[in-house]
Order: sequence, then C-alpha cells, then structure tokens
Amino acid sequence: MLKLTNVTTRIGDHQVIHDVSLHIAHGDIVALLGGNGAGKTSLFRTIVGVLPVSKGKVEFKGEEINHIAAHKIVGKGISLCPEGRQLFPQLPVYKNLMLGAYHRKDKKGIEESLEQVYTLFPRLKERYKQMAGTFSGGEQQMLAVGRAIMSKPDMMLLDEPSMGLAPLVVEGIAEAITKLNKTGMTIFLSEQNAQIALMITRHGYVLENGHLVLDGLSKDLITNEKVKKAYLGT
Ligand SMILES: Nc1ncnc2c1ncn2[C@@H]1O[C@H](COP(=O)(O)OP(=O)(O)OP(=O)(O)O)[C@@H](O)[C@H]1O
Ligand SMILES: [Mg+2]
Repeated sequence: MLKLTNVTTRIGDHQVIHDVSLHIAHGDIVALLGGNGAGKTSLFRTIVGVLPVSKGKVEFKGEEINHIAAHKIVGKGISLCPEGRQLFPQLPVYKNLMLGAYHRKDKKGIEESLEQVYTLFPRLKERYKQMAGTFSGGEQQMLAVGRAIMSKPDMMLLDEPSMGLAPLVVEGIAEAITKLNKTGMTIFLSEQNAQIALMITRHGYVLENGHLVLDGLSKDLITNEKVKKAYLGT
C-alpha cells in the first residue's frame, strides 16, 4: 500500500531523512520507533507531502505521490494525525471533527464517519459542543484521531499519540488504534514509547538520525537487546 524507495529529505541545508526504504502492506499495523530528533515527524511529513522529497520515491496504492500537493494527498486516502494534536482550541469538538472532512462532498459518508468516531470515542459525542482547548490531553488525542478518521483514510499515520499522557489514557488510545486497524485501516504509528507501540503492532522500524537502522517483527523487537537498551529502558 505504501512504499518508500531511497527517500531522502532536506530541511534547508540539513538532511533529516537519509535513504529510507520501507513497505507497508494493506491492512497492516506498523511501528516507527525512534528517540527525540530521530526523524519520525519529518518522515511522516515527507509521506504526506508537507516536506518535499529531495531524492527517492513515495508510492501509495501504486501511484507516485511525492509530487502531489499535501492538501490533495489526503484525498488519496492517507491521513496524518499530527504530533502535538494541532487542534483548533477555540472551536468546538464537532467543528474540529468536520475540518477533517473538508475535502469530502459525500454527506451520507461524512455522517457515517462521524458515527464511527462517536462509537469509537463516546466521550466526543457527549462533549461535542465543548471547545477543544478545554479538553484534557487524552480527550484532545481522541479528538485528533477522530478528525483523522473524518477524512475516511485507508491509511493513518499517527505521530506519537501517547505523548504526555498517563499510562491508563495511553492504553485507551492504543485500544482505539487496534480497533481501527481491525476495521481494515492500515496503521503507521510513530512512538518513543516503544513498549506500547510494539505491543499493538505487527512489524516495526527503528529510525536513528534519519536512518532506518533496524526492522523486524514487533514481537522480536521487544526482546532485541539494542531495542531494549535504547527504547525500553531495560
Ligand atoms: N523546521 C526545521 N528546521 C530545521 N531542522 C528541523 C526542522 N524540523 C525538524 N528539524 C530537524 O530534523 C531532525 C528530525 O526531527 P524530527 O522532528 O523529525 O524528529 P522526531 O523523531 O519526530 O523527534 P521527536 O520525537 O522529538 O518528535 C532534528 O534534528 C530536527 O532538529
Ligand atoms: Mg516528532
């Protein structure tokens, strides 16, 4: 479904992604592990067209997408749930959700997506009029995932959804991500929290200084010495 071939990305003079190749099949759930500054956000921004590819190729459903504008890529079926949530704090929950569907014209489909969001996160339905900025961190993360669902993606990129959340709240988010994957949505999940990411994914990639340094089945990565030392704190 998603294929990167020797992707290199620069921000100014700084090369942030080096020669990254990876492949994610339809329906899969895959982790992207890496510490601060490893390049996780930059890689996701490259995939969705916010950062230009300086070398290499990004293909989605067999189509080369690296020359397509970011606002058009969402219509191809790929949605980024960004780091730090990036909500509109002065807008109510409902409006934040609808912004995720801005490019859609299918009224009935939008209603169905909204129902899907409310089923996954009943909290958002209860609080649909509340300003997003007054939400707790966990609720804001639910809203960010909900907004991404509203674009009806075939693939969702989730950039560190566990950031700043208490363990119990992280568990709830992880459960929601697993449920989304079970509906057939392909998931690419970036995390510093390797523990949770490797628990819920099938495969994992490890990024260091913009290079992919390791990849394998998540269940093997959990017991990998390098991963344990660098990302699991054991
Ligand atoms: N706008 C920018 N201008 C210059 N350098 C940048 C910019 N954005 C990111 N970088 C650099 O790119 C590298 C990768 O950053 P990135 O944000 O992709 O890492 P990350 O893995 O997402 O880290 P974190 O876990 O802290 O979010 C870092 O060295 C960072 O300083
Ligand atoms: Mg980041």
